[in-house]
Amino acid sequence: MEVFEAVRTVLAVRNYQDKPVPPDVVQRTVEAGRLTASSMNGQPWHFIVVENRETLRQLGAVAQTGPYIAQAPLAIVVAIENTRFAVSDASRAIQAMILTAWSEGVGSNWVGFLGLTEVKSLLGIPDELNVLAIVPFGYPMQAHSQGKKQRKLLSEVAHRERFGQPFE
Ligand SMILES: Cc1cc2nc3c(=O)[nH]c(=O)nc-3n(C[C@H](O)[C@H](O)[C@H](O)COP(=O)(O)O)c2cc1C
Repeated sequence: MEVFEAVRTVLAVRNYQDKPVPPDVVQRTVEAGRLTASSMNGQPWHFIVVENRETLRQLGAVAQTGPYIAQAPLAIVVAIENTRFAVSDASRAIQAMILTAWSEGVGSNWVGFLGLTEVKSLLGIPDELNVLAIVPFGYPMQAHSQGKKQRKLLSEVAHRERFGQPFE
């Protein structure tokens, strides 16, 4: 899938088919996170790949804004170091993983934003790390190709040369 096409069509997927994500797709998705650039090449992240059904159920139970994780065949928990650029760096890695999976037909969604402290004890994540997000993955239940994004107009967010000058 062409990069812009992936960006244009990717949507938050919260309902998944009962079908595993193939190991090679899992591998490429995690690789996409690992290969992402980070500030000063700090790579302040860890990616915990969860496919165990009981663990997925438990993740869904603790993630208040993502109970549907329990139905996903796969989730990647992103833990970060407590450093200045870690959120920016890991957010970029998450986007790379989401787009890589999407280009293979696998949907996903970002769940939570820090504060997922219960996940740490569940997965044995060391004290000095924080959980930034849980990203469940799976083949979408509904066809999303027709999905329309609800976004501000380009004229509302894009400017040419100086703030307030129309981009188009
Ligand atoms: C940083 C971030 C945090 C998010 N947190 C959640 C969340 O906790 N639960 C959830 O269901 N969706 C979450 N989302 C998904 C957004 O709600 C969704 O992407 C947005 O509403 C736009 O919908 P779309 O991606 O389908 O166009 C999050 C997205 C981002 C980028």
